[in-house]
Amino acid sequence: MKERLEELTVRAVGQIKAAETAAELNDIRVAVLGKKGELTAILKGMKDVPPEEKPEMGRIVNEAREKIESALKAAETEVKRRDLEARLKNEVIDVTLPAKQNKKGHRHPNRIALEEVEKIFIGMGYEVVHGPEVEYDYYNFEALNIPADHPAKDEQDTFYINDKIVLRTQTSPVQVRVMEKGKIPIRMIAPGRVFRADEVDATHSPCFHQIEGMVIDEGITFADLKGTLEVFAKKLFGENVALKFRPHHFPFTEPSAEVDVTCFKCGGKGCRMCKGEGWIEILGCGMIHPKVLERCNVDTSRYSGFAFGIGLERIALLKYEIDDMRLLYENDVRFLGQF
Ligand code: DAH
Repeated sequence: MKERLEELTVRAVGQIKAAETAAELNDIRVAVLGKKGELTAILKGMKDVPPEEKPEMGRIVNEAREKIESALKAAETEVKRRDLEARLKNEVIDVTLPAKQNKKGHRHPNRIALEEVEKIFIGMGYEVVHGPEVEYDYYNFEALNIPADHPAKDEQDTFYINDKIVLRTQTSPVQVRVMEKGKIPIRMIAPGRVFRADEVDATHSPCFHQIEGMVIDEGITFADLKGTLEVFAKKLFGENVALKFRPHHFPFTEPSAEVDVTCFKCGGKGCRMCKGEGWIEILGCGMIHPKVLERCNVDTSRYSGFAFGIGLERIALLKYEIDDMRLLYENDVRFLGQF
């Protein structure tokens, strides 16, 4: 029995030293020390050992078991250390490698133009407000003095949600919503999306953007409107532009005007940009109609106001010399990346 134990110890320790993985070591542990293992099998011979030799034999058995167990433990520690080392080597990060280029997004030309317009008006003390895109017929038309039989109300032009609710066709309803709050003086701009049942072409889209403007205070006159828009246009297009106010009609302003600027490309001589006119139309404006003011409970004996509406796409197209509005909506990153 003693010889068998010695032989097993030497053989097992040899196998343990040769083993390279945790799985191999585990197999050896089961084969030697397990319930059906070799050592356990040898121990079954204990009952045949004469009583006087039993203590000595017990010591030898324990020694053999300890040797095997400590060899296993040492080998397992070594395997773990090697595994860790290999993992660390594998996962090493070379911080000196060049970084991956992240693709950066950029602002849409519409957004760039809007931020520029907002900056100019904020600089003049205006507040930026927002109104709903899905709007009551009342705010979009009626409160703005647009009569029920006005052609703009035709289903051919306006997207109706139901009898009373539309997709706003202009940002002007925000004027009414702000006036209704009853706080005067008002200096505000209201940018946002508007919707019209238009076919897509180089100058039309069923969804585009406007920037509404409104000022109400004591003693506001057309001169204030002219001065304000002149400052605005010069800041946006350059000090050299001149403005022309052409009489026009809007139901919610009286008097009303459309405003042209001298072509900032050719300086007014006439070029492709201004279609040979020397002038470019940029907005509609006027003194807020007393009927609109009264409907919103603004005391017209004390207050007056002006309003204007700017087409954002028009500004973006002009500023960046883009000749087709569709380019703004196709979202081709090669195009958008140029601004
Ligand atoms: N809402 C007008 C439109 O969509 C633009 C406009 C004209 C707005 C004159 C105004 C204004 O505030 O005073 O055509």
